[in-house]
Amino acid sequence: MKRNVFMALLATASLTLACQQGANTGETGDAAMDSTEQAAFNAVIDGKDVQLYTLQNDKLHITLTNYGARLVSLRVKDKDGKDTDVILGYDTANEFKQNAINYYGAIVGRYGNRIGNATFTLSGTTYELEKNDGENSLHGGTNGVYNKVWTVEQSADTAITLAYTSPDGEAGYPGTVTMKVTYSITDEGGLVMDYVGTTDKETVLNLTNHAYFNLNGEGDATILDHELQIDADAITEVDANLIPTGKSLPVAGTAFDFSEAQTIGSRIDAENAQLAVGKGYDHNFELIKGDGFRKVATVYAPKTGIEMQILTTEPGLQFYSGNFMTDSDPKGKGGKAYPFRSAFCLETQHFPDAPNQPSFASTVLKPGDQYTSKTEYRFLVK
Ligand code: BGC
Repeated sequence: MKRNVFMALLATASLTLACQQGANTGETGDAAMDSTEQAAFNAVIDGKDVQLYTLQNDKLHITLTNYGARLVSLRVKDKDGKDTDVILGYDTANEFKQNAINYYGAIVGRYGNRIGNATFTLSGTTYELEKNDGENSLHGGTNGVYNKVWTVEQSADTAITLAYTSPDGEAGYPGTVTMKVTYSITDEGGLVMDYVGTTDKETVLNLTNHAYFNLNGEGDATILDHELQIDADAITEVDANLIPTGKSLPVAGTAFDFSEAQTIGSRIDAENAQLAVGKGYDHNFELIKGDGFRKVATVYAPKTGIEMQILTTEPGLQFYSGNFMTDSDPKGKGGKAYPFRSAFCLETQHFPDAPNQPSFASTVLKPGDQYTSKTEYRFLVK
């Protein structure tokens, strides 16, 4: 840590120039850019040091911060060999903090997605959570793990492990929960996220990454041209507040059928009661059960030729098409606007509101048991 701070300070002055030179000559100037980026992430949040970390190989160049264990940038080469950052974010740690409820790039939880009426009961005890989404609790509330400074346990060129211990009762959830996420990159262009968690008291846990993607490059105006395929026969029906009714709706013959690739925009404004409540796609796709870790979805952007495949051990995938983004949202990296539907999220998860839905796969974690989850975002160029 100390070394990084020192390197960043030492490097900042000369590197601004190096970045400009890189831009002028068309070079990427990766190392130089990294150090200026690092300086903008040297911050103290809640009394804890925040920094920027880099994962890099021939295929991927990723920066992350321990504030919210979040992805800051994810650069891949497009079909013309141009470096393309495919996730939304900000230039500084402080902007991420100010706009924490966008969840950009973060690990959300303790319970990713919604819990109805912000309450659940475990072994006869009822727990009250924060209502941060109407009457419901979303992504762990405003005191969720995306808004915490995580500890970096180990960091190397191609892998980093971040840990956070959430005290008993934090954000209303029972149990002291220790969670870790390891981000690692592969030679095949994969970003793998391995999660583990333990508790000292019965609780619920459902962690996911909340990156907002635009495979045309962040700041591009739309994702409606992206072609999406999801291995799901059904979605989880939701009520007017996006809380599951307990029913599964078959996708066949509806705007939710992505079993064959379809552009995101082709049916997004179709007349459909579920699309109306989500103002577009904002639904849990019930993934076809497979053998553990398997490929479940593919997104392809014809403009850049960038394809992202999603592999996971999870039973569900929340597809959110950026319907609550607005043209007046705070500006992102480099002052770019991130308007309505200019990004999508595909969040691997257990189903929303599972603590209140006995028929959904359980999210209960007991002392002595280990929570595990694995997801990969794999990038290819076609
Ligand atoms: C939810 C959306 C919500 C968004 C906030 C998504 O995971 O499904 O309803 O607006 O997070 O960023």
